[in-house]
Amino acid sequence: MSKFIVFEGIDGSGKSTLSKNIFHILQNRNIDLDLFREPTSFETGIELRKFLQNKIHLSPEEQMKLFIADRKESVNRNILPGLQNKKFVLLDRYYFSTAAYQASSLNSPMEILQRNLVENFPKPNLIFFLDIDPELAMKRIHTNRDEIDVFENLEKLITIRENYLSILPKDTIFLDASLSPEELTDIAIKKIESGK
Ligand code: TYD
Repeated sequence: MSKFIVFEGIDGSGKSTLSKNIFHILQNRNIDLDLFREPTSFETGIELRKFLQNKIHLSPEEQMKLFIADRKESVNRNILPGLQNKKFVLLDRYYFSTAAYQASSLNSPMEILQRNLVENFPKPNLIFFLDIDPELAMKRIHTNRDEIDVFENLEKLITIRENYLSILPKDTIFLDASLSPEELTDIAIKKIESGK
């Protein structure tokens, strides 16, 4: 049976580590699965990485359009083929990220979420939100990285976290990202096993 599992959180929350750990555990149990991330590694995703690294400028409206265009590639070339092959699909960031990160005076988080929902992108079966204090997230980012992305400053991360809290569905699974990677992996695996 296919299952579509999404990981969300602000920069520095550790969702990439968590999704990779879960991928390896499920793989060792012989579950047929894929792990993808957004932005993708397709052309649209490469363009977005240039923006994230501050190499090109994009307005919030342009960012939103490009993230949605990249999501169409992600859905058609990665996610749907996986789900159609009855695989588990793990996805590091989805449309909740666009709602939280591209919100501006022109578009609220809810409006951006709506712009994604009308595209009929597949709905996740499980959504994990790694919740972290933005100050702790910033500390982690400064300790672990040489390069700082456009959104990686305290003020932006505080707003982005609030945006997330305003749009995440009621059945989102909140995880305390200050726990150790091992504890987080254990909790998440149990949730996946129980289907909730
Ligand atoms: P992230 O997922 O943290 O991966 P990496 O390990 O490569 O840093 O980085 C992706 C960045 O893209 C992150 O700052 C959030 C941003 N982003 C958006 O602004 N909107 C989106 O819709 C998505 C998917 C990501």
